[in-house]
Formats: sequence, structure tokens, C-alpha cells
Amino acid sequence: MGEKTQGPSRRALLRGAPLLASVPIVAWAADAPAPQVAPSPSAAKGWSDMTLNVNGRDHRLSIDTRTSLLDALREHMQLTGSKKGCDQGQCGACTVHVDGERVLSCLMLAVAAQGKQIGTIEGLAGTDGRLHPMQQAFIDHDGFQCGYCTPGQIMSAVACVREGHANTDADIREYMSGNLCRCAAYPKIVEAIKQARGQMERA
Ligand code: FES
Ligand code: FES
Repeated sequence: MGEKTQGPSRRALLRGAPLLASVPIVAWAADAPAPQVAPSPSAAKGWSDMTLNVNGRDHRLSIDTRTSLLDALREHMQLTGSKKGCDQGQCGACTVHVDGERVLSCLMLAVAAQGKQIGTIEGLAGTDGRLHPMQQAFIDHDGFQCGYCTPGQIMSAVACVREGHANTDADIREYMSGNLCRCAAYPKIVEAIKQARGQMERA
């Protein structure tokens, strides 16, 4: 069957396709010049300039956009209290507070924490050096052995009490279940949280 002669044939269109593909697509009207936005040198490298407020203090950083909040704290602010256990949201060792909520800092991008109040274990004690009741309770009850999970346990425990999820032993175990302890200090952690709960509620 022959091709119709009216209008461009399918074969002619296909022959013209490579030519069309080489023509740049112009989204702007001819009389409206496209805006020229020069990327900043750091943005061109995939970095971001940002300010993070940690423990009440602003930190200005220029870091890779893909940096996690945990790495920003540890590698760029030398706040190494928050620990890297798994780096994939399974152990709780990296727990910090963001606007008062507990957050796994290995799963949050640093850029997403801009404009928020970040709290780490380094900022938990009072400005006079007095330990937070939860820190003191972990010491009083030997709520740790090697101590690697302890900063995350304490940050989670403080949030657990503030959330009202520390009223029973079962509640504490349930709402602290995201924080693993390879040394299995769990019974003493529960006792510590119960002691601190009373002091936090009275404060
Ligand atoms: S290091 Fe973040 S959950 Fe393990
Ligand atoms: S005290 Fe060692 S992992 Fe918890």
C-alpha cells in the first residue's frame, strides 16, 4: 500500500527526527531573555552553605549536600558524643533532639535541620556543669557497661519521659526499643529512667 501524499509522511517525519533532536528546546519567548543565575562555587561542587543551631549555638558550615546530621555533628563540629553504630537507622546510638523530638541523626540530612533547634548529649548538662537527672540516674544505676550506646540511650530516655511514655516498665521497654545495647544493660536502664522520671516531673 502506498503512502498518502497530503501532509508530511511518517517516513519524512522520522527522517527529520535526528535534526529535531539537535535543536535546543527554547522555553522562553524570543523577546524575554532567560535569566542568568550563576551557581555559587560551593553549589557547583554539590556543597551547601548552612547554619545549624546546636545546643543553642550557631555553627556555619560549607559541606556536601548529602552529609547526614550525624556526620555534620561528628566530622564538622567535633561533637562526637552522638555515636555511629550502624549508620542505617537500626541501633539508636546516634539519637539527638530536633525541635524537642528524638531523631536518628544518621537518617537526617544536615540541610534538613537548618532553622531547627538541635540538641545533643553535649548540651544536656546545665551551664553550671550539673548533670541532667537522666545522666545522673544512668550513673547511679550503672545503666551502661562499655558506654557506646549510652549517649543515644540518654537522649532517647529524656524524650521518652517528656513524651509521657515512661509511666510503666512495659512502656519504657516499648518506647526505648529503638535503642540497642550490645552489653544488655536494659534492666538497669529501665531503673535509671524511673529514677530520672520522678526528678524530671518534679522539676
Ligand atoms: S547510627 Fe543511627 S541508628 Fe544506628
Ligand atoms: S553499654 Fe555497651 S552497648 Fe550499651
